[in-house]
Amino acid sequence: MNLETDFIVVGSGVAGLRAALEIAGAGARVSVLTKERTGESNTEYAQGGVAVALAEDDDVELHEADTTGAGAGLCDTEAVHVLVTEGRRYMRELIEWGAEFDRAATGRLLFTQEAAHSRRRILHAHGDATGHEIVRALVARVAAESKIELLPHAGVEELLLADGRCVGVRFLDPLVRAPRRLRARAVVLASGGAGQVYLHTTNPAGATGDGMAMAYRAGAEVADMEFVQFHPTALNIEGAPRFLLSEAMRGEGGVLRNEEGRRFMSRYHERAELAPRDVVSRAIVAELRRTATRTAYLDMTALEPRFVRERFPKIYATCLRYGVDITRAPAPVSPAAHYTMGGVRTDLDGRTTIRGLYAAGEVACTGVHGANRLASNSLLEGLVFGARAGRAAVEDLAHDVKLDVQTDEPQGSNEPTDDWHSGEIAPPVRKRVRRVMWERVGILRARESLTRALKEFELIAHARLRPPARNFLTVATLIARAALWREESRGAHFRLDFTERDDARWRVHSVAQKDSGIVASAKIDFVTQSDRQEVLPHVVG
Ligand code: SIN
Repeated sequence: MNLETDFIVVGSGVAGLRAALEIAGAGARVSVLTKERTGESNTEYAQGGVAVALAEDDDVELHEADTTGAGAGLCDTEAVHVLVTEGRRYMRELIEWGAEFDRAATGRLLFTQEAAHSRRRILHAHGDATGHEIVRALVARVAAESKIELLPHAGVEELLLADGRCVGVRFLDPLVRAPRRLRARAVVLASGGAGQVYLHTTNPAGATGDGMAMAYRAGAEVADMEFVQFHPTALNIEGAPRFLLSEAMRGEGGVLRNEEGRRFMSRYHERAELAPRDVVSRAIVAELRRTATRTAYLDMTALEPRFVRERFPKIYATCLRYGVDITRAPAPVSPAAHYTMGGVRTDLDGRTTIRGLYAAGEVACTGVHGANRLASNSLLEGLVFGARAGRAAVEDLAHDVKLDVQTDEPQGSNEPTDDWHSGEIAPPVRKRVRRVMWERVGILRARESLTRALKEFELIAHARLRPPARNFLTVATLIARAALWREESRGAHFRLDFTERDDARWRVHSVAQKDSGIVASAKIDFVTQSDRQEVLPHVVG
C-alpha cells in the first residue's frame, strides 16, 4: 500500500522544521520524517550560536564581507546577500515565537565573538545550548500546527521518481517493520550533513549524508563536495566522544597551547586563535607533527571560573565528566570533521536540478559558505533557506502541471519493498570507510592518498550493500572524487601536492552528476547562471 501526503520534509533540524512551518502555513499537509527522534540533528548540538547582524555596531554589509572572506573566493554573492539580509527578519520572527537568547540584565541581547567575524555578532542561548533552544522553539510551534505530521524513527532510504520528477520517498517504517513508500507532490530534503563518514567528528550518529547520496543517486547535481570543514577543538580524551569545544571559548579569551604549554597560533596567523577555522585546524596538525605529540590544549584558566561555568555550562559539565575541570586545567583538543559545505546543488529557493525536489540546510549547497563556512552561519542558513525552500515547493505547484500523486508508478526503485533491515550501516563498511576518509581524505590530502581511497571504495562497492551502507559509501566517494579533482588548496580543502590557491584555474565550483563525472561551474545557482562554464578539461568519472 502506498501512503500519501501533500509534502514531505526529510529531517527535523532547523531547516526541516522551518520548511514544514512554511508549507503548513500555506494550508498544505506535510509529513516530517526523521531517522531518529524529532529534533535529533546537527542543529540540536550546535553550541556557539547564530551569526546575525543585529548588534548596534554591526550591519549586513560587514556580515556579508566576513562571510565571503571566510569562503575563500567561492561564495555565491547573491546567496550570501539573501542570508545576511533575510536572516535578520527570520531571527526576529524566531524570537517572537519564543526562542530565548541570552540577554544582559537590561534585556539587551548578548553577542559573542567567533573566529573570522569582525564584530561580536553571535547570539547564544543558555550559554552553549543554542541549537537545543532553537529546536525547542520550533518543535513547540510545529506541535501547534495540525497540518504537520511528525514521523520519528523513519529513516528515508531512497527518493521516488516518476517522469523525472520527485514524487515521494521510500522509508523504513518502524511500526510495521518494513520499507514503505510515501508519496507526495514535492519533497524537501533537510537531512543534514555527513560528518560521520570521518572517524573523528563532532557530528551525532545520524549525520551520515543520506540526503546527499539519495539525491545524487536519483540524478540530482551535487556541488563542492570536496569542502569539508574540520573544527579545530574537539575534546581529545581516550574513550570520550569527540565533543565540541565551541569556538566561542576562544572568542571569550581561551587560548591554544602545545604539549610544552606554549601558545603557538601567532606563528601561523596574525589573528592567532581567532584565525579562520581551517587555518587553526591545520596549525594544530602542524604543531602536533612538529612536537611529535597527539594533542593540543584549549586553555580557559585565565578567565574567571564563575564566568566559564555560567557561559559554557554544558561544555564545563561534559569535560568534568571526563576528568577535566576547564576552570583549572587546559582541555586536550584536536580537530574533527564538523560541517559539509558542499551538498545538493540548489538555486536561491532550494530548488534542486530535479523537479519536485528541494533541499535546505547542510544537505544543500546554496553557495553561501563557499570553500569554508564562517562560524555560526549554519543555523541562520537553515532558517532562511528552510523557509525559502518550503515556500518555493508550495508556490511552484501552483504553476506546475496538475499532479495526480496516485497515477504514476514511481521509477528508481528496483528493490523489493519487503526487505526489512535495521537501517544501520553494516559495521565493517562503516568502520573501514570512516578510517579511510580520516587518513586519506582528511585535513591534508594528496593525489596518492585520494586515489588509494577511491580504489578501496570501489572494492567495497562490489559487495551487495543495503541502502544505508550504499548511501554512506556514495557520500564518501563523492567527497574523495571532488577532492582529487580540485588541484589547488582553497578554504577547507588542502592539497599537499598543490599547496597554493589558484584563482586563474580553480575559482569554480565542482558539480557532479551520476554517470557524467565532475564538471566546473562558475556559479552554484543553476537558474540565474546563463550557461555552465566548462572551462576545465578535468572530468573525473
Ligand atoms: C562552535 O560553537 O564552535 C560551532 C559553531 C559553528 O560550527 O558554527
